[in-house]
Amino acid sequence: MKLGCCYYPEHWPEAWWADDARRMREMGLRLVRIGEFAWSRLEPEPGRYDWGWLDRAIDTLHAAGLKVILGTPTATPPKWLVDRMPDMVAIDEQGRPRGFGSRRHYCFSHEGYRAEAVRIVTALAERYGNHPALAMWQTDNEYGCHDTVLSFSVAAASAFRGWLAARYGTVEALNAAWGNVFWSMEYGSFAEVDPPHLTVTEANPAHWLDYRRFASDQVASFNREQVEILRRLSSGVPITHNFMGFFTEFDHHAVGRDIDVATWDSYPLGFLEQFWFSSEEKRAYLRQGHPDIAAFHHDLYRGCSGGRWGVMEQQPGPVNWARFNPAPLPGMVALWTLEACAHGAELTSYFRWRQAPFAQEQMHAGLLRPDSSEAEAADEVRKAAAVLEAIGPQATAQAQVALVFSYEAAWVVGIQPQGQSFRYLELVFETYSALRERGLDVDIVAPDADLAGYRMVLVPTLPIVPEGFVARLAALDCPVLIGPRSGSRTASFAIPEGLAPGVLKSLAPLTVTRVESLHDGVAEPADSFRVTRWREDVVSDLAPELTDSAGRGVIYYTGGVRYCAVWPDRALLALLVGRMADEAGVETRDCPQGIRVRRTQSTVFTFNYGADPVFVPHLGATLPPASWHLDPLQARPDPR
Ligand code: GAL
Repeated sequence: MKLGCCYYPEHWPEAWWADDARRMREMGLRLVRIGEFAWSRLEPEPGRYDWGWLDRAIDTLHAAGLKVILGTPTATPPKWLVDRMPDMVAIDEQGRPRGFGSRRHYCFSHEGYRAEAVRIVTALAERYGNHPALAMWQTDNEYGCHDTVLSFSVAAASAFRGWLAARYGTVEALNAAWGNVFWSMEYGSFAEVDPPHLTVTEANPAHWLDYRRFASDQVASFNREQVEILRRLSSGVPITHNFMGFFTEFDHHAVGRDIDVATWDSYPLGFLEQFWFSSEEKRAYLRQGHPDIAAFHHDLYRGCSGGRWGVMEQQPGPVNWARFNPAPLPGMVALWTLEACAHGAELTSYFRWRQAPFAQEQMHAGLLRPDSSEAEAADEVRKAAAVLEAIGPQATAQAQVALVFSYEAAWVVGIQPQGQSFRYLELVFETYSALRERGLDVDIVAPDADLAGYRMVLVPTLPIVPEGFVARLAALDCPVLIGPRSGSRTASFAIPEGLAPGVLKSLAPLTVTRVESLHDGVAEPADSFRVTRWREDVVSDLAPELTDSAGRGVIYYTGGVRYCAVWPDRALLALLVGRMADEAGVETRDCPQGIRVRRTQSTVFTFNYGADPVFVPHLGATLPPASWHLDPLQARPDPR
């Protein structure tokens, strides 16, 4: 795994560049990501390119022994461009334009903007496509950041109509699929259909689901347009996009298929603060991040583009964008770096080299302070670089456990939550955590992934079951867990004939006759766990494997397949993971709180995410806070 940083030469006097490059190299960095927001400097006026400064910046970095990851600048169209076509901005759900003055102020569906994106990417690729310093391309920056996947512009509405016509062929087919007879919502032509916003009360969930599918396809095709240019003009140079954390607004598996390396931006402390974690967890992991936040995304994104992945932005200190922004515990920046290596990353790049004293992110730490002195993280980078050097290349193998992740499932649950605490990401994350707490390595895979070779497969929920999925599950000879709401909707967002779990009945012979969601704080007892948030009434010839204290079925089991009819709390997940692992003959290891394990083919990594020392039984030793222990597993692979 190579280390790198995000650098903005355009933010600093040219006289500093050579020294910056020298210091990067000395710190152990080998890659520098540049350029992704530099459009106003690359093309100060329409059609007048200024490549000189970027030529010199790249040459300076290269001369110091660094390679660059060059970003296409399409996340930040310059003012002159927006003024030329003011309707290129995205329109929010309330109908308001998302104006100039920050970033991501474009609509994925605007043809004029798309042509401009093609133009600047072509010019950039023609200039640098064969530059010897070029290690990788990055398309755009964080598609969807700042809530920008959905746009309700005129351009989006018109593209949506075309998308619907291609999907349904006739408007009658659309009316039937959506059930538009309900509330007289029938359309006479595709031209009459609008985006599903500004309705009096909720719009039809089928309408919303198609709008989300359409918007996701627009992101994928916007990306693909750039990828095609880069492949043509910069043959052989890998292409990445930097995805975000806990973000499901578009189908990352689809975008991942078009690129070579899925990278993501890892801000464990910001994510802990911003997402659903309890206040107890927020306190316990204040300066470390929950022990599964980074790992979860590593395993998710490894499954997005055929195995090649990395961290494009690693938090090096306090960030500026969460409600509260604590500093990492000493040791955490190095620990995060090694956790990425343990999951098979090919790069970890810190955001950013030097903290900016101006503009929006002046409170965001870098490896250097604004005065160029070293920030706390700098020494940790050196330390991580030394460890990486010592352990050599780390290859990962297919994990024993597959966890099925579906972006469409996230949309379905979000469109029709039915109970406000039924959160898709939380359900998948909790399932993942239960596996990690037993020391298991996990591959997070797409619903169309090949499941052969896995020894346990978990499907936290999959309301719409894609073609071929049932057959792939049926072919497995290993324990399978299918979560609540699975098979509960057709592809057009209707209740399936014969009720849930629909097509999954061939594996889980039962019928869900009613569902109820429970208010936060309601916890109905069972032997060793509690039923919270969600419960399904099930009719089946199978006797339940587990019931609650009132005798209501919770888990149904037959032929290796388990169906879970409730929101599984942590205790239930732990119990199920334990049973499945026993049945599969998969070895587990109880991890004390804050301890996590992950194996590559040559090393067992043990990490302590706790703020206190923890005794680790499998090591027979105590690990200090924010520290790690590495055990060689076998002879190191021959680097040749
Ligand atoms: C990311 C983004 C970076 C920077 C960073 C700050 O979302 O890609 O450009 O804004 O956050 O943490």
